[in-house]
Amino acid sequence: HWLGVDLGTSGVKVVAVDESGAVVASHTSSYPLQTPRPGWTEQRPEDWWDATLEAVRAVGERVDGDVVGIGLSGQMHGMVALDAHDEVLRPAILWNDNRNAAECDLLLDRVGGLDGLLGLTNNASLPGYTIGKILWLREHEPELFARTEVVLNPKDHLRWRLTGERATDVSDASGFGALDVRNRRWSSDLMAALELPESLLPPVVESDTPVGRLTAEAAALTGLPVGTPVVAGGGDSVLQTTSMGIVSPGTLGITLGTAGILGAAIEHCPDNAHGRLQISCGNEAGRWHVMGVALSAGGALQWWTDAIRALVPDASNATVTALATRSPVGARGVRFLPYLVGERAPHVDPDARATFVGVDLGHDLTDLSRAVLEGALLNLREIRDIMADVGVPTDDVRVSGGASAYPLWRQTLADVLGTPVHQVTNGEQGAAYGAALLAGVGGGRWANLSEALGSVVVTDRVQPDPDSVAVHDASYDDFRRIYPAQTVMRN
Ligand code: XUL
Repeated sequence: HWLGVDLGTSGVKVVAVDESGAVVASHTSSYPLQTPRPGWTEQRPEDWWDATLEAVRAVGERVDGDVVGIGLSGQMHGMVALDAHDEVLRPAILWNDNRNAAECDLLLDRVGGLDGLLGLTNNASLPGYTIGKILWLREHEPELFARTEVVLNPKDHLRWRLTGERATDVSDASGFGALDVRNRRWSSDLMAALELPESLLPPVVESDTPVGRLTAEAAALTGLPVGTPVVAGGGDSVLQTTSMGIVSPGTLGITLGTAGILGAAIEHCPDNAHGRLQISCGNEAGRWHVMGVALSAGGALQWWTDAIRALVPDASNATVTALATRSPVGARGVRFLPYLVGERAPHVDPDARATFVGVDLGHDLTDLSRAVLEGALLNLREIRDIMADVGVPTDDVRVSGGASAYPLWRQTLADVLGTPVHQVTNGEQGAAYGAALLAGVGGGRWANLSEALGSVVVTDRVQPDPDSVAVHDASYDDFRRIYPAQTVMRN
């Protein structure tokens, strides 16, 4: 068996995959999130490690310790700083932490603005990215910065604990904001412009490369054989799309988690559309990954459910989704912008906010509930259109993630996009599945990721309804006018 480990923001999921690529065991262990100040998010790498050991042991026991390889995935962009003795210097600063806006501006200044940065990395300067967190450390915790020898992303911290190796893979490295994504290597020019030593960055390899083997200590703690190979793996958002069977151009993957993530594979590195997309190296050599991340998709439903829960304590995402079905398609004219935590795509705007528009005395909770759902998905349509503009085919859509379990979400997605929407085998397993397959590729079970993903097939297909498509086309025209108006109001 091959294990796939996905170190998420709320917990770590471990799956075991057999010779045929079937998932035979799975276990999730959770850990807390610390928010020491508003807008700051941190986790203790020690908590990750304890939870990972628990989950690996649980899955290892289910397959009688028969594990021949491990693949890693995890939340992208997080910063773990290690000193020369491999001590973790402070809690990890996470992907959704917003403390470093000033450092993102500084970074842009040093490289001649957005165009200069896109020339070096092909990505904008997002507060989430690791590189801005390193600049924040230098500015605000200079003593710790002086002791920092290397910076690792969350999953690569696990690799170091499992194998003693410091390394990352090309897809996670892309989310550092310091990778020359076109050439799949660190941008020396960017590091020089920021006066940061390149030695802070770990070696970067392709996703299916074996990097290190389980140490005797890690083997004792996990119950797995000493020397079990650990494969490089991938950043969760990239590998999640890959896990839906998407390694070749032609299919658009949509993940409806807290965030809404649109991702597609492409055989060249396209220029980023004014930095509105995230362009990463793909999980297969010679492939790139185009991604647009809307920060609130299922998260908007969760927020709305929480709001209703103040009055109806047993309200759940399911009951609120049922409420939405009682309002007609188009939510009788109510529009909703889902920017509850700012936005990354279709607008790079940490200060954007959510809003309802067009509410009158005749509207009720059913309409507002449908508006939340439709607004979250109209926002994804806008990202889809940006992706189409850079040459990504968008007619064949696969969907996964928590909210995709609701038929109303899948139907509305098909209607909003005007294309059929498919579910696939193991879609619910997420990036842990792809990580396990990468371990199998690294170990020679499959020649490459495309072959490993051969068993992924379509399990459900939702067709767009022409009448609903026409209603959403009109809603979309309204929807796109609201954000610019809101921007004018803010200034
Ligand atoms: C991707 C991103 C998140 C994290 C957390 O760019 O910020 O999806 O990877 O899972």
